[in-house]
Amino acid sequence: MVTRREIRVLDTPDALFRAAAEEFGRRASAAVQQHGRFCVALSGGSTPRSLYRLLASGAIPSLPWQKTLIFWGDERHVPPDHADSNYRMVQEALLSRVALPSENVFRIKAENPDAAGAALDYEKILTECFRLKPGQFPSFDLILLGTGTEGHTASLFPDSAALAERQRLVVSNWVEKLHTDRITFTLPVLNHAACVMFLVSGRDKAAIVHELLNPNQNAGQLPAQMVQPIDGELLWFLDKDAAGT
Ligand code: 6PG
Repeated sequence: MVTRREIRVLDTPDALFRAAAEEFGRRASAAVQQHGRFCVALSGGSTPRSLYRLLASGAIPSLPWQKTLIFWGDERHVPPDHADSNYRMVQEALLSRVALPSENVFRIKAENPDAAGAALDYEKILTECFRLKPGQFPSFDLILLGTGTEGHTASLFPDSAALAERQRLVVSNWVEKLHTDRITFTLPVLNHAACVMFLVSGRDKAAIVHELLNPNQNAGQLPAQMVQPIDGELLWFLDKDAAGT
């Protein structure tokens, strides 16, 4: 069950990203202290770019980059230098600006024309990094997530096949509305995290945030509502615009 649920509303986007950076730093230091490394899965899209830039700026001096392992919760089906690539966004905003060993960066190889093959490849990486036995799921110290205006998270979109996946770790997922494949963590991986942090900013997200945080309206069936860590913390970091206040 969710061990701790917290909704934090910050006055401005700057305050939001600063609070998120401080939380990121706390989790990183605690993870390194507890088990010698910090395994974090980053989200893509545009919102988290400001957080990644802030982390790269040295705002959290204590960040143990040498012991941080970077993963992605999802990736578009494009090469790493494509404008839509989540890897490229993180590379430009963060990785190119911090002293993080390249062997600690685990990119989804989405240039593979076979999206299902890219997903299988990433599953192998997770299995190796977390020394998983068959049927086990990795427990990330932190998974960052966002949400779309229709309630998707990572690349788990409403009514998409991947949403029902309960065995696999990473799958390719055809997204009809975007007419493209994505590669994404499955819900069990998200829900095995020690901590999931949703980071949502902007007035355009106010309606979906209200819907997501008031599940009685649709019985909690939107993808972002289905993220309920089995034995972990669920954090929603919002600015006032996204919170609709
Ligand atoms: C992606 C993300 C996705 C994102 C939401 C919100 O690959 O696009 O992983 O799940 O978090 O689409 O995106 P914005 O933050 O850009 O609104």
